[in-house]
Amino acid sequence: MPLGSLEDHLHDLPSGKKPLDWNTRMNIAAGAARGLEYLHDRMTPPVIYRDLKCSNILLGEDYQPKLSDFGLAKVGPSGDKTHVSTRVMGTYGYCAPDYAMTGQLTFKSDIYSFGVVLLELITGRKAIDNTKTRKDQNLVGWARPLFKDRRNFPKMVDPLLQGQYPIRGLYQALAISAMCVQEQPSMRPVVSDVVLALNFLASSKYDPNSPGSSSRKHQSFHRDRDDEEKRPDLVKETESEGSS
Ligand SMILES: Nc1ncnc2c1ncn2[C@@H]1O[C@H](COP(=O)(O)OP(=O)(O)OP(=O)(O)O)[C@@H](O)[C@H]1O
Ligand SMILES: [Mg+2]
Repeated sequence: MPLGSLEDHLHDLPSGKKPLDWNTRMNIAAGAARGLEYLHDRMTPPVIYRDLKCSNILLGEDYQPKLSDFGLAKVGPSGDKTHVSTRVMGTYGYCAPDYAMTGQLTFKSDIYSFGVVLLELITGRKAIDNTKTRKDQNLVGWARPLFKDRRNFPKMVDPLLQGQYPIRGLYQALAISAMCVQEQPSMRPVVSDVVLALNFLASSKYDPNSPGSSSRKHQSFHRDRDDEEKRPDLVKETESEGSS
């Protein structure tokens, strides 16, 4: 693929290479979620991807994302079973804790990995970064305490965006990723809900030049609360959890 993988556009950018803008990031997230939805909900039998990560999301024309590397993919559980038992494989940093501990692979294992990719898209940080201090090396470990208070959210965004993002979109995107990386697999959303929320986010285009769309002008916590009714369900649920 001429544009390489998402990893090439997110981490360790060579000088002069332009970072991805907010709208492109949300399009990539929504497209990758739709790819996962295809595997989980449309294929017969359904498939668990098992190796979702930035280097396996290849970018086609106009940054259209395509999932690659199905070497580890598994046919999903059949009948009443909720999991397939396997040797734990996948990539450290993207692997759901329940799967890593028990070897029980479920569709929710993929949702966790997706949440990590979404967090990388938002924060520009790597799933595992050995150059950081020990407690901040794991992206989810770094993000979990910050998810507890929305006032932390603007501190989490990729500095390479240089403030060019919609504050409400940032809240929503972080809320989705927080739900996906929850410790308890049963608390993570199913892929169709993730697709719904991200399609909505990707379709709300951010225009840095339109008046009132600058993140800096919208940093009031209370003001954003007023807009809660307009948010998709998935996002609303997380926020009430996060603020409790
Ligand atoms: N068709 C392709 N077009 C462009 N870049 C590719 C293509 N296939 C792989 N790559 C890139 O080449 C590199 C090596 O890919 P490879 O799949 O071997 O390893 P990986 O994705 O890091 O790990 P894994 O083996 O778990 O998939 C990655 O950066 C990947 O994004
Ligand atoms: Mg690969």
